[in-house]
Amino acid sequence: MRHFLTTADWSRQELQGLIDRAREFRASPQGDALRGKSIALVFFNPSLRTRTSFDLGAHQLGGHAIILDARGGTWPVEFEDGVVMDGTAEEHVKEAARVLSSYVDLIAIRCFPKFENWTAEREDPLISAYAIYATVPVINMETIVHPCQELAHMMALQDEIGDVRGGNYLLTWVPHPKPLNTAVANSALLIASKFGMNVRLLIPDEVYRLDARYMDAANGFCDEAGTRFSVHTDIAEAYDDVDVVYAKSWGALPFFGQWEGEAPYRAKGADFMIDDAKMAMTNDALVSHCLPMRRNVKIADSVVDSPNFVGLAEAENRLHVQKAIMETLVSGRAR
Ligand code: CP
Repeated sequence: MRHFLTTADWSRQELQGLIDRAREFRASPQGDALRGKSIALVFFNPSLRTRTSFDLGAHQLGGHAIILDARGGTWPVEFEDGVVMDGTAEEHVKEAARVLSSYVDLIAIRCFPKFENWTAEREDPLISAYAIYATVPVINMETIVHPCQELAHMMALQDEIGDVRGGNYLLTWVPHPKPLNTAVANSALLIASKFGMNVRLLIPDEVYRLDARYMDAANGFCDEAGTRFSVHTDIAEAYDDVDVVYAKSWGALPFFGQWEGEAPYRAKGADFMIDDAKMAMTNDALVSHCLPMRRNVKIADSVVDSPNFVGLAEAENRLHVQKAIMETLVSGRAR
């Protein structure tokens, strides 16, 4: 039995197979891969796109989605082993995962870090426990990576560019009023490097480097592909001749959980919003963001409303790629 926890566990060929199948679903949305089957969607954090697209996707494949809102609609869950459960959690993942598995055919989890202790949270403890104790496949709907978003992103890039190999990809930190999860940034490094692009990471200060697991993975994939992974703090250097600009904001890991100290570094990125002047340095690049996105904080209206912006196509692709993922996991067969 396979889970879909991170694209790191799936080969590039398998991921391309999912994207190809997603294109078939885009052309012909209805199917019966989930007829008589069900999926539990467990949300510990809010969502617009993920919740809608998984629910609708299951319906279009003949299945049934059960949405469990872990912020009030279901019991808080403990995931540490051997813990005395005298806190807020009412049940352990050992029971929750096994009980859900006895009802449904797939379990999907959204659980962002608690922003307390990165050393512990980088192990992705809740979904990892679900993957151990569930007896049905588990899908990551965003934890410390966002693999469904990765496929939707790559599908959108391929739709515009064709073969992305050898293209220049920029992941740029952009401003936001508060520190956010690193999941989409980690995922952007993974998918762009795995699919053979030259990957640049632009950050306002070295403290915004991403976790070594993802930096090393990007380096490794680029080495394998004969491409280059580089880190930049200079805007002009990073934007020069890029084909894709992906925007994301995140909190600096050295200040994880103690964000007061991050403020001076965040201020260094005040002019990192994507605007026309930066776009003029690119190779008429595509621009995207996973959404939700603050206009005129992260990306200027003029860029979001230009033909270069593919964030809406990427969001639509979530529906198609997740149907491919659900079909593949319930059938037990990857292409
Ligand atoms: N991109 C994304 O996952 O959107 P939601 O948070 O709205 O689900």
